Amino acid sequence: DTAEVVVVGSLNMDLVVRTPRHPVPGETLLGHGFATTPGGKGANQAVAAARLGATTAMIGRLGDDAHGRALRDNLTREGIRHQAVLTSPAGETGVAMIQVDDASQNSIVVIPGSNAELTPADVETAEALLASAKLVVCQLEVPLETVRHALERARAHGATTLLNAAPAMALPGELLALVDWLVVNESEAEALGGCPVADPDQAARAIERLQALGCRRVLITLGAQGVVAGLESGLHHAPARPVAAVDTTGAGDTFVGAFSAALARGAEVTTALQEGQAAAAIAVTRPGAQAAIPYRHELPPATP
Ligand code: RIB
Ligand code: NA
Repeated sequence: DTAEVVVVGSLNMDLVVRTPRHPVPGETLLGHGFATTPGGKGANQAVAAARLGATTAMIGRLGDDAHGRALRDNLTREGIRHQAVLTSPAGETGVAMIQVDDASQNSIVVIPGSNAELTPADVETAEALLASAKLVVCQLEVPLETVRHALERARAHGATTLLNAAPAMALPGELLALVDWLVVNESEAEALGGCPVADPDQAARAIERLQALGCRRVLITLGAQGVVAGLESGLHHAPARPVAAVDTTGAGDTFVGAFSAALARGAEVTTALQEGQAAAAIAVTRPGAQAAIPYRHELPPATP
């Protein structure tokens, strides 16, 4: 089994309600929509990488239940190799309860379920896959020791490593030192860097801190304010194209997957950034996480 992009991470079933506004504690509200759709940061990123043209495989864990079977079928439909997605006999597949309000703001509670059972030993059984990868992509919805092991093994095999440090948490420096590309949003950058990140100037300061902690290259995604990138060549700010957002769930995952697919095919960093941003800009204009992720032919022609 081989793949250009190997994603080590979570698979969730997303239970999504649309509501006029978020309820306050103790309140009951009438919403106006419900959908059960494939999600999980890992799986979303794998789907984005595959739709954007990379041969893609996942390492992860599902439960032995209806959600697990549906999520595996979904990987098959997306052309994602899933031999290294194991089934936990006793565990339940991860779920995410997602509320999206009429201002397109979401709030999410994730119950990790079988994602929490993904071990370093599981990663080892997929060693050949890691050895074949150009890029190994991790997030933080599976145990930290598993993320660390995946990054270490990826490095040992000469693959480039990308960590999307989501959801937000502080991380040990040894782990950050294993990361070639760190991709974070505002709150994740704050959790790691310990300073506020709300605009490009603050992002630039956070990047300096994160690079001092050992990350080689850092991308901070700022939604409508674009992306600030800390590269060997210095700091770059790539502004975002204004769009009418309907649901931003999974937009960061779309960026990560599209950026990864571009890097895996050997594109320049500026091209990869453009494609990641273009894919995310499309994704926020459509409902859902995976359902919203565009295919390569939907991206606008590259601008020089
Ligand atoms: O990043 C979006 C994802 O976060 C959702 O699909 C949900 O499953 C949670 O993991
Ligand atoms: Na969306």
